[in-house]
Order: sequence, then structure tokens, then C-alpha cells
Amino acid sequence: MEYVSRLFRQQLPAYLKALPVPSSLVGFLTLSVAEWLRLLPFLGLMTLLGYLAFGPLFLRRSRVRDRPINLKIQKETAKVVNEIHVEDLREAKKCYCRCWRSKTFPVCDGSHNRHNEETGDNVGPLVIKRKEL
Ligand code: FES
Repeated sequence: MEYVSRLFRQQLPAYLKALPVPSSLVGFLTLSVAEWLRLLPFLGLMTLLGYLAFGPLFLRRSRVRDRPINLKIQKETAKVVNEIHVEDLREAKKCYCRCWRSKTFPVCDGSHNRHNEETGDNVGPLVIKRKEL
């Protein structure tokens, strides 16, 4: 324990004090090769610590992009498939959900409006219309 104490109280401050850190960014241009070589281990360590500290945030962000679209509809099945026979369409117009938030899925119940307001998304239903002949 004494070694750790001495490391943090004496050796580390002496090492940091001896580093040729310039007082401005322009000062880095005036460093000699020998000064750069003394600075490189410290910069490498700081880069590694920065990566370890902030790397998980970047990984989490990429995972968020890949999250599921369907949050609750028929989650017990491997794939949600709905069949609609054209012959069964009696109404002149029918709206089917594409946002996966409808409580009457696969028929749209307007839940996409709330989803769009909350998330800034722009999803809407698939509208099937019968052509009057
Ligand atoms: Fe999903 Fe309308 S409720 S598209």
C-alpha cells in the first residue's frame, strides 16, 4: 500500500510536472522531437482512458438505432404476418397500420399521430381504396 501511496503522492505529480505541456495549442508546434517522445505515453494513456470512458456511450447509441419496431404486437410469434383478401374488403377505404402502435392491429386506429408527436417520426397508415367503376 505504501508503494501506491508514494506513486500517487510523489512519483505521479513529479512525472506530470516534468511533462513538456505547452501553455497554448500553438505551443505544440514548437515542441522538439525529444519533448514529443516524452509526451506521447501520457497522450496515449489519456486517449485510452477517454475511449474507455466514452466508448460505451457510442456503442449504446449504435444499439439504439437497431432496436425493434414492433414493441408489443404478437411477440410470441417469430413473424407477424397478416393476410387480407381483396374480396373481403367491403368498405370503399380501409387503413392498415404501419407504425406498429395500433391497438386494433393490423387496422390503423390513429395511434401513429401520437407516436409521431412524441418521437418526431413521420409514419402513417397504408390506405387501400376501392376504385369506383
Ligand atoms: Fe399505426 Fe395508424 S396506428 S399507422
